[in-house]
Amino acid sequence: DQLYAVVGHPISHSKSPRIHSLFARNTGEPVEYTAIQAPLEGFESTVREFFERGGQGLNVTVPFKEQAWKLAEQRTARAQKAGAANTLYQDQDGALVADNTDGAGLVRDLRDNHRVTLAGARVLILGAGGAVRGVLGPILAQKPAAVTIANRTVARAETLVQLFSEDAGDTRLDACGFEQPDAPYDVIINGTSASLQGDLPPVSEKVIGVDTVVYDMMYSLQTTTFNQWALDHGARHVFDGLGMLVEQAAESFRVWRGVMPETAPVIEQLRTD
Ligand code: ATR
Repeated sequence: DQLYAVVGHPISHSKSPRIHSLFARNTGEPVEYTAIQAPLEGFESTVREFFERGGQGLNVTVPFKEQAWKLAEQRTARAQKAGAANTLYQDQDGALVADNTDGAGLVRDLRDNHRVTLAGARVLILGAGGAVRGVLGPILAQKPAAVTIANRTVARAETLVQLFSEDAGDTRLDACGFEQPDAPYDVIINGTSASLQGDLPPVSEKVIGVDTVVYDMMYSLQTTTFNQWALDHGARHVFDGLGMLVEQAAESFRVWRGVMPETAPVIEQLRTD
């Protein structure tokens, strides 16, 4: 079998080995996929050792995605724009290539698994950190009518608006604080890490209408804090990030193996694991 792995710190709770093992079984691809915890100061040597002993591809997770991006000698266009990489491999000459499949995973989960159309939609994105930067390009490529980035630190949202102004095309792209949005959106995406601390981004409940699609990029066994808040304020279409997790993994698998695995059975399996 050919060797793949996910690198992070901590890594023991990663679902990637489970996901990729299911992909390997379902596609028949000769893939062995493990988890590697790199020391916080030892990401680079961990990556080099992995490829030196014949490893074929790595996924990268918290807190190393920016380091992976910097380390790579080449970047795909989507990784370049994302400023972070979740997928590494070597090209034919042995050069380290960085890719980012997070945004493709989010868009595919919305479109294919939840039948949510971003084209023409008015989208509110909460947060302006690395996670949001990573998905903004693929979201804009769907041609929403408008994308508003709201963040606690407004300057970070403004920086993203500047960075992606060329990608926005006809999409109206703007930045604000959490207090500003006060009317229903078609789609709300929570990309803050507030729920890790059990916090909610303090956005008005007026952003939720009966037809609003609410998507939390986080996932947990129970309904996420943000999605529960949305449900409590009348939202009827609420999704967490488990589908995104599986879809970004599938896109990495496709990049490495040239084979797109089926995701629906794997998402279903993970819900019942
Ligand atoms: P990530 O890779 O998860 O995006 P990050 O780059 O540190 O990590 O960004 C975290 C995001 O969550 C930011 O938008 C952050 O807001 P600030 O830019 O103002 O720091 C947001 N965030 C984190 N904790 C939050 C909280 N308790 N309430 C609201 N927003 C929070």
